[in-house]
Amino acid sequence: MAVSFYVTTPIFYGNGEPHLGHAYSTMAADILARHMRQRGEDVFFLTGTDEHGEPIALAAEKQGITPQELVDRSATQFRDMVARVDATNDFFIRTTDPGHVERVQRVVERVKENGYVYKGTYEGWYCPRCADFKSESEIGPGDTCPIHEIPLHREQQENWFFKLSAFQEKLERMYEEDPGMVVPDFRRNEALAFIRQGLRDVSLSRSELSWGVPLSWDPDQVMYVWFDALLNYYTALGYARDGEDLTERYWPASWHIIAKDILKFHAIYWPAFLMAAGLEPPRRMFIHGYLLMGEKKMSKSLGNVLDPFEVIDRYGADALRFYCFREVSFGQDGSISTAGFEGRYETELANDFGNLASRTLAMVSRYRDGAVPQAEPDPALTADFEGIVERVSGLLDEAQISQALEEVWTLVRRLNRYVEEAQPWVLAKDEGDAARLDQVLYCLVEGLAVLARLLHPFLPNATATLLEALGQPGLELAPFGAGEGGGRVEKIDPLFPKLV
Ligand code: MSP
Repeated sequence: MAVSFYVTTPIFYGNGEPHLGHAYSTMAADILARHMRQRGEDVFFLTGTDEHGEPIALAAEKQGITPQELVDRSATQFRDMVARVDATNDFFIRTTDPGHVERVQRVVERVKENGYVYKGTYEGWYCPRCADFKSESEIGPGDTCPIHEIPLHREQQENWFFKLSAFQEKLERMYEEDPGMVVPDFRRNEALAFIRQGLRDVSLSRSELSWGVPLSWDPDQVMYVWFDALLNYYTALGYARDGEDLTERYWPASWHIIAKDILKFHAIYWPAFLMAAGLEPPRRMFIHGYLLMGEKKMSKSLGNVLDPFEVIDRYGADALRFYCFREVSFGQDGSISTAGFEGRYETELANDFGNLASRTLAMVSRYRDGAVPQAEPDPALTADFEGIVERVSGLLDEAQISQALEEVWTLVRRLNRYVEEAQPWVLAKDEGDAARLDQVLYCLVEGLAVLARLLHPFLPNATATLLEALGQPGLELAPFGAGEGGGRVEKIDPLFPKLV
C-alpha cells in the first residue's frame, strides 16, 4: 500500500452559515496538509458540506424554500469560507453529490449482506437539532437535549437497525491495542468509557423523512444522516477525480480533524460501521476543543462570534491562522478575543517576525548591495537551530499544531536576540569586521529562510513573499546551514503592516 497522507475536516451542516469554529478545523487540516506536501508526501485534503437530514429539511421549510435551494446556498458560503482562509483542499464534497449517494448505498448494502442490519422498532428520545438518538445518560432535566436545551421527541418508528452492539469488544480491543488512534488521550478515554457502558444498536434509517439517501432495498426509508455524513470520508475518494478511483491510494484516512462535539460518532459509530462493511477504520483522529468568546462557545444563535471574514478583510488570512493556533493550545478549549488578536498581531507578527524580515532584507541591501554573503554558519546559532526541522515535523506528525508553532517562534525570538547581540550596524562601520558582518548577514538570511519554510503552513502568504524576497522561493524543508549564500535579496513592504 502506498504511503500517503489523507486529512479531513468535518463536513459542515448545510443549514448554517460558516463561522470561525468551522474555519478553525479547516485551517488545522490545511496546516497539516501543507506541511506534509512540503515533506514531499502524497497528500489529499478533503472538506465539504453535510446536506441531508431532518435539521435541513426543517430549516428549508421554515424559510419557504426547498432543501436543495438551502444547501446550494450554504455550500457556496462554505466553499467561500474555505477559499478565504486559504485552505488548499483537493476536493469539496457535498453529500447531495450523486457520486456520494450511490456509494453510500453500495456500502450499506455490504453492511446488510454481512449480517449487521435488521428491522426493528425504535423507541426512545431523539433530538431533531442534533439528529441524534439519545441514550439515558445523554438526556437533560425534563427530557431535554443538554446541548440545544430543547424538548426531546419521544419516538416510536419502524426502522432498520445497525448492530453496533456486535462491535463492543472489537472497539475496546482496537483502542487498547492502538491507543494513539484517538488523540488527545483524554478523548480516547472518554470514548472508551462510553463503549464500556455497553453499546446498544442504533437506527440506520428513518421513515417519515424524504430528504436523505434512500435505502436501495426499502426506498421508503432514508439513511440516518450520521452514517450518510460519516461515509463522505470514504466515498469522496471514489469520485473526486474523473475516471480515477483514489480509494486504494488514500484509504484509510491519516487524520480526521474534528471537535469534541462529534466524538461519539467518529470514535464509535464510524469505525464500527467500516468494520461492518469490511473496510479499514481510519488511522487516527484528532479531537480539538472549542474556541470560546469569554466563557461561552461561539455560536451564531448566541450571537458571540468573531467573524472570520471581517478579520481576514482587515488583517489577512495569515493573521487569523496564526492567532487561532497561537492563542489556544490545539486540543484544549480556549478563549479568543479581539483585543487578544490585536495584541498578538502587533507584538508577534508585526514586530517579532515582520520587523526581523524587514531589517534583515534592509541590512543586506544596505551593507552588501543586496547580495547574500557566503559564510560559515555561526556556531552560536547552529546549536539553537539543531534538529528544528525534525522537532517540528515530529510534532506535526502528532497534529500538535500549537506546540510546533511554539518551537518555531522560540527561534524567531532567538534570531531577534541575535541581531541585538551581533549589532551588524556597528560591524558595518569597521572594514576590519567585514568577515564577521558577512557571517551575521548570512546567518540572518539563512535563519529566516529556515523559519519561513517551517512557518509556511501557518502563514502561507507572508512566507511566500518573504522567501521570494530572500531569493529562495522553494518550500522544501532544510536545516540551518544548508543554504550556500550568494543569492540576491529584494526589499519588501512590511509583511504585517501596523494598522492604526
Ligand atoms: N455535520 C456535522 C459533522 C459531520 S462529519 C461526518 C457537524 N457539522 S457542524 O457544522 O456543526 O460542524 C461541527 C464542527 O465545526 C465541529 O466538530 C468543529 O470541527 C467545528 N466547530 C464548530 N464550532 C466550533 C467552535 N466554537 N470551536 C471550534 N470548533 C468548532 O457537526
